Amino acid sequence: MKQSLNVVVLVGSLRAASLSRKVARALMQRAPASLACEIVEIGNLPLYNEDLEQSATPAAWTEFRARMRKADAVLFVTPEYNRSIPGGLKNALDVGSRPAKASVFDGVPAGVVSVTPYRLGAFGANHALRQTFVFLNMPVMQQPEAYLGQAADAFGPDDSVQDAEVSRLLEKFMRAFEVWIRAVKTTKPHDFAAFMQERRAVAAAYVHGDAAPLSAIVSRRDPATFLPPGGEPVAGADNVTARYAKDAQRFQGGTTELEVLHCDDSGDLAFWTGLQHASVQVGNGEPTTMTLRVTEIFRFEDGDYKLVHRHADGAGRSSPPTAPAAADRRGSRVNVL
Ligand code: FNR
Repeated sequence: MKQSLNVVVLVGSLRAASLSRKVARALMQRAPASLACEIVEIGNLPLYNEDLEQSATPAAWTEFRARMRKADAVLFVTPEYNRSIPGGLKNALDVGSRPAKASVFDGVPAGVVSVTPYRLGAFGANHALRQTFVFLNMPVMQQPEAYLGQAADAFGPDDSVQDAEVSRLLEKFMRAFEVWIRAVKTTKPHDFAAFMQERRAVAAAYVHGDAAPLSAIVSRRDPATFLPPGGEPVAGADNVTARYAKDAQRFQGGTTELEVLHCDDSGDLAFWTGLQHASVQVGNGEPTTMTLRVTEIFRFEDGDYKLVHRHADGAGRSSPPTAPAAADRRGSRVNVL
């Protein structure tokens, strides 16, 4: 049996009687059984404002990002506004693409269907969207293209597709999309160096209190372990996952950098060891600056590397450099994944 794929459908229109939403539903009804498709709403996302990332990240952004991270693929079904995409859809792309290096869209396969009641098939929106995929690093299905013009004529009074040719085209599109998603996922390089870029993005999100990206790369299988700085070892995949999520709640923002001294992979295992430098806002206090000695071990599971062991302790050269506190010299007990 084929592994089920989680497809998020983003609809570019917010209108209740949207043609694009009808087309999205028709596409979902025609999806192969192994595609689990769900429309994720974008109308409640506050307009993207970088100032909010540090101090007051809107809950709607965090929920959207967490949901998008579970997606194996994204299907965009959008109208054209002024020969481009609607602002609401662009806003969703902007929200999902940040914080820097923690984009939910990076490497995720995409498909585009553009919809209009008019004749030109919303070509402008379709290709404006494809332009954003270059920077978002989303591999997008090229064929078949789907420019659905005169879309209102395709639907009957009960919102079902009454035009047999359109129905066939939508079905064909979804069959091809499944093949495309699987092709992208299987050619994803079994490349630990590339994965380490993702690991850095995960660390960047974690210091902002967002444990979801980390959770996505933590193994759900035993044995799994975490040896935190100056604390009791945590054992068992569920306990480790819960502990990482709990620790993240303390972090309000900051920066972190992984200084990899050595990394290697062999068969299904990989590791890196080195230093993690971080400056993190913990609660309302001054930013805590620290350097941790870190070793992490990963297992290749279900097509991706998963974190199975982390050991972190203070490297004994924490800052602030001007007046190191006794606690800093001993090494930090704060853990910044
Ligand atoms: C439009 N519409 C439109 N249509 C098109 O084919 N090319 C375009 O550039 C535009 N521009 C445009 C701008 C704005 C602000 C609006 C509100 C509409 C018309 C659009 O295709 C039509 O309203 C669709 O029905 C919108 O899609 P939904 O809401 O039915 O999915």
